[in-house]
Amino acid sequence: MDDYIPVLELQALSPNTSEVVTVNGCEVLLCNADGDIFAIESRCSHQQESLAGGRIRRGHVSCPLHGVRFKLSTGEPVGQLTRVALKTFDVQIEGGMIGVKAG
Ligand code: FES
Repeated sequence: MDDYIPVLELQALSPNTSEVVTVNGCEVLLCNADGDIFAIESRCSHQQESLAGGRIRRGHVSCPLHGVRFKLSTGEPVGQLTRVALKTFDVQIEGGMIGVKAG
């Protein structure tokens, strides 16, 4: 896990839940989408609401405030409220830990 910073035990992230972690001073949302793990910027690009607790469904996370959905694999938004994609981070699982690529 050279470039990857271990942030959370895999077993702590149940299917279709998320957890906010800090990577190099940035808040990152870890998401378990039906067993696939993704890491995405945790602030909505519409009005900067935290995506923590947003519903995860079909590979997307929904913003709790106005419901914009972001594709977890690319950060692309769906809908009219924002066209600004969120940053996504590479993830690696090693030794039961989720690692997020720094930088
Ligand atoms: S703040 Fe996220 S959709 Fe408006």
